[in-house]
Amino acid sequence: MPRKILVTSALPYANGSIHLGHLVEYIQTDIWVRFQKMLGNTCYYVCADDTHGTPVMLRAEKEGITPEQLIDRVWHEHKSDFEGFHVEFDHYGSTNSAETKEFSQAIYRKLKAAGLIEVRSVEQFYDPVKNMFLPDRFIKGECPKCHAKDQYGDNCEACGTTYSPTELINPYSAVSGAQPERRNSDHYFFKLSDPRCQEFLREWTRSGTLQPEAANKMQEWLGAEGENKLTDWDISRDAPYFGFEIPDALGKYFYVWLDAPVGYMGSFKKLCDANGIAFDDYWKPGSDTELYHFIGKDILYFHALFWPAMLQHSGFRTPTKLFAHGFLTVNGEKMSKSRGTFITADSYLKQGLNPEYLRYYYAAKLNGTMEDLDLNLEDFVAKVNSDLIGKYINIASRTAGFITKHFGGELMEMPESAHPIYDQSLIALSNEETDRADTNPQSVNKFDASNEDHLINNPQKLLHEFQSASTVLADFYENRDFAKASRHIMRLADIANKYVNEEKPWELSKLGIQPEKLHFACSLSINLVRILTIYLKPVLPKLAVQVESFLNVTPLQWSDALQALPSGHTINPYQHLMTRVDQKQVDAMIEANKQTLEPATGTHSPARHAEAQQRAIAPIAETISIDEFSKVDLRVARIVNAEHVEGAEKLLKLTLDIGEEKTRTVFAGIKSAYDPEKLKGRMTVMVANLAPRKMKFGLSEGMVLAASGDAPGLFILSPDDGAQPGMRIK
Ligand code: 2FM
Ligand code: ZN
Repeated sequence: MPRKILVTSALPYANGSIHLGHLVEYIQTDIWVRFQKMLGNTCYYVCADDTHGTPVMLRAEKEGITPEQLIDRVWHEHKSDFEGFHVEFDHYGSTNSAETKEFSQAIYRKLKAAGLIEVRSVEQFYDPVKNMFLPDRFIKGECPKCHAKDQYGDNCEACGTTYSPTELINPYSAVSGAQPERRNSDHYFFKLSDPRCQEFLREWTRSGTLQPEAANKMQEWLGAEGENKLTDWDISRDAPYFGFEIPDALGKYFYVWLDAPVGYMGSFKKLCDANGIAFDDYWKPGSDTELYHFIGKDILYFHALFWPAMLQHSGFRTPTKLFAHGFLTVNGEKMSKSRGTFITADSYLKQGLNPEYLRYYYAAKLNGTMEDLDLNLEDFVAKVNSDLIGKYINIASRTAGFITKHFGGELMEMPESAHPIYDQSLIALSNEETDRADTNPQSVNKFDASNEDHLINNPQKLLHEFQSASTVLADFYENRDFAKASRHIMRLADIANKYVNEEKPWELSKLGIQPEKLHFACSLSINLVRILTIYLKPVLPKLAVQVESFLNVTPLQWSDALQALPSGHTINPYQHLMTRVDQKQVDAMIEANKQTLEPATGTHSPARHAEAQQRAIAPIAETISIDEFSKVDLRVARIVNAEHVEGAEKLLKLTLDIGEEKTRTVFAGIKSAYDPEKLKGRMTVMVANLAPRKMKFGLSEGMVLAASGDAPGLFILSPDDGAQPGMRIK
């Protein structure tokens, strides 16, 4: 019986771009879902943008647009980033939906009826200029411990101390700069301290819902039996707030973390309504369906405490399991904007890097635990080139041509493989054995060598070895140990290559002898490629489609591994499947991610810089009023493309994204100072309401801003990190 499974990934915030750190999770989930689908299980994968909260509200205000306009724009960006990496949701929604609102309110009402909601007065900082309560992130001041200035309300970035915002010295509002006041307001609490919640969570933790490391964390949070460690959770925020109003509570809104996980339900409901799926089958208590949430370890608290307790006490089922993963480091360190390792999904794709490189690299490192994952960029290039190009693709590229050239594309019959020759795979007797492959290469080499020779000299066993690997590989995938899966697959690929080396089809072809032998060796190799493609398909879905078309077969399913292609099956001529990663592309990506932050001209010593400035300063122009100034609509622009203009001495042609549907073309006189390649992906500032100007080379729809003085040099402007295309500068 096929299983019925609902899978989610954490909902990304609608106020930032998707970066390679996010992708660890979406790629991991997508691989798992694709595997389930290949097995023939019914598996739905839903996600959505997490849209509510103060940051979205303030950012929209800054940009001079409504929060709805902002989240709509970001939704499209996120959607295209995910598509770019072949992350295939069955539905990608938004928490700002009628469905999520309805579920949030229904859950709240149920919790209230169960006596699990309490109202209490809370004292908080209030911004008297903006007329709003300030979240911790929007209060700054001097660290009470080390006295570093301009630290956030919850922790000091200089000394690492955590504190409450009321402990800050000389606090100020990061929104208006005003000195905040302390004010009281009623807040709504979900009573997590209630014995019903604590008991339920203890039970839920014991029932195998969590990975061992997560279960340990939970024990820590819950404390010893009888110890009431959990405190109530503040689920309300005061107006103004972008979110859902709490029923019967004027001016109170659900805190974003209340409706975020409810977004899983809201997004799934949309999918159900559009496709006639029974929503209740997946959400009613005691249902035989499975529910899995893939999350980062930083949000375990929300998913392992609040979320199951909310569901349990509002008449819904609780998750079958939570799958938490670690953080991404790049080259062994935290992602860093100044090092250029805070890499956005968009910048990776813009460099022309194949998304399947990253999918494979992540898969090769994901082991289903909460350990951090390191993207070592040198290793990334080496591994992708060696495994995908050097091993997997290589088998096809060395054998397919002979089938087309000598045998009209027809494959030969493969040895009978329906009955098992032995129960277990020879090259990996157990999980333990695969583990040993990493730690003790010597013993494994010995072990392998004899078995591999055995396989290479016996085509029937070789084919069977490939086929019977489907069981062990399915286990690895099911347990999210993609690292073991990929190691095992690459060992198979090594064996297939050895087989090709042994048979030397190029020599047989050249000498024109033993056509049967040539035909058989190449047919078997193609069958091995087909099986490897099945095993890699959850990780490399697009490459698999290319291989399917080359093999001339319908979309491969997991169980297809057990059958060889029939005799006489005709394959299509082999065409190049994948190119090698070029280190230069990786370097350029790092540069591009650095450039959005650093001055375009590279490093100047401060002294030289000041000197140049002094020489360059011209008299200040005539005074204007603020109204005159505000007529100029300055916008943050992303340089999507930059190129030379034929016949133009000074101009570069820039294509700018300022958050509108269409990009703008601007001819800018900056050719002397900039290499167009280096400008691509950079953020800058443009005058967006300048009357368009017809030039010899085309229409210029605005102007980019650059600084210059008497001294040579031209410097285009860059907004600070975090600014997005279309933001207004005022
Ligand atoms: O941490 C985050 O990025 C949150 N936006 C995740 C929400 S996950 C779920 F609860 F919606
Ligand atoms: Zn400090």
